[in-house]
Amino acid sequence: MPVIDLAPELKSEVRPVAKDTLTITDNRTGKQYDIPITDGTIRATDLRQIKTDSNDFGMMTYDPAFMNTAACRSTITFIDGDKGILEYRGYPIEQLAEKSTYLETAYLLLNGELPNKDQLAQWMYDVTYHTFINENLKSLLDAFRYNAHPMGKLIATVAALGTFYPEAKNISDPECRQKQITRLVAKMITIAAFGYRHMIGQPYSYPDNDLSYSGNFLNMMFKTTEMKYEPSAALERALDVLFILHADHEQNCSTNAMRAVGSSHVDPYSAVAAAAAALYGPLHGGANEEVIRMLTEIGSVKNVPAFIERVKSGEGVRLMGFGHRVYKNYDPRARIIKKVAYEVFEVTGKSPLLDIALELERIALEDDYFVKRKLYPNVDFYSGLIYQAMKFPMDMFPVLFAIPRVSGWLAQWQEMLQDADQKIARPRQIFVGTERREYVPIQKR
Ligand code: CMC
Repeated sequence: MPVIDLAPELKSEVRPVAKDTLTITDNRTGKQYDIPITDGTIRATDLRQIKTDSNDFGMMTYDPAFMNTAACRSTITFIDGDKGILEYRGYPIEQLAEKSTYLETAYLLLNGELPNKDQLAQWMYDVTYHTFINENLKSLLDAFRYNAHPMGKLIATVAALGTFYPEAKNISDPECRQKQITRLVAKMITIAAFGYRHMIGQPYSYPDNDLSYSGNFLNMMFKTTEMKYEPSAALERALDVLFILHADHEQNCSTNAMRAVGSSHVDPYSAVAAAAAALYGPLHGGANEEVIRMLTEIGSVKNVPAFIERVKSGEGVRLMGFGHRVYKNYDPRARIIKKVAYEVFEVTGKSPLLDIALELERIALEDDYFVKRKLYPNVDFYSGLIYQAMKFPMDMFPVLFAIPRVSGWLAQWQEMLQDADQKIARPRQIFVGTERREYVPIQKR
């Protein structure tokens, strides 16, 4: 990178510079630096050459919460938040939700291309035949209290699952990686459903290989005394669409956790457990539960205007399921979910909370407060209503998010491992603590 030490009299003169560069003048030293720009981005490490003297560590950027830092180059998911666009490997989410299945979409995320007929058949076979989990894991579940949150059980069980496959640490072997990916995608539904059955004190329902991925999950969740569980086709499809919509969302909190933990080259089970822990937080995977609580608290359509006024009054009440850090337009997933909700209610009967949600949306979309701030329904506004109508308890909502997100996490993990630019994730800090001082014996403190 050229460094130009300008003589004072030349500083204001024009000098030739390469086009795709950013010229920085350090006013502390008068030096200028031409930093290359690639994809609208400069490399933070290129700033390290900017020093006041040879003892200076060099310039860093300060970016808590990664508000303006790209941590990777990725080919998996594209989001244009202003236009409300979401694409997996270039395919619009609307087309995948309408025409694909969750397993086909997972293949796409993981491999970069849609499978052909044989590839899809093989992938579906592999996932179906890896759904059983080791019986010892049932003893692990037994160690939890009856009221343990299913997300805590999921995180612990996924981490424990890794101990059954010590070879999983061979992360540089593509075949071995593929085996663990298949296992994780397959066993997520079993672990999730077993956690639920443990919670309600019912015997575990084992996988049924005749069923689809989503159908099998419903079977393990809800089968009771029938010889053969037959999922409602409409509910099975609705769940599959929700799985497609939640499969990936580029560099969100849990994906960042997956990449950061995976960058230490730990096995993928441990990294997925860490990502699931990140998802558990109410700022990430828990908002749809908050929507149900809010709708229940509002109680009736006639109370909606008063609630909207409370939101606008600035007393700290938020319209849950509205607004998004990235989407400043209708979240494309919310549009699809709203349609799915009607299809589910055809089977289950309408949720009594639906009319309240519709009225909230109607008023908010016309109200200046929400219009000015570009607040639109997000993925969570209607998904909780669907889950509730399908008889999933609220505690299971983040688990339902984690099941399909595993394919996204694993796609991002593979990409990270194969990216020559990546190293162990290790941010810098600005130390603002006490300067060096001598230890004081306890008698003198
Ligand atoms: N209700 C009322 N006002 C809101 C809302 C809301 N839901 N969201 C944002 N605002 C206001 C906020 O008060 C602020 O107003 P002002 O400029 O007067 O101070 C302005 O809009 C900007 O808000 P912000 O908090 O700076 O926006 P953010 O990008 O930091 O927050 C958010 C995004 C999703 C955390 C926020 O919109 C929110 O809390 N929404 C409700 C919770 C929710 O639905 N979360 C689910 C997100 S989707 C999950 C996923 O994709 O994984």
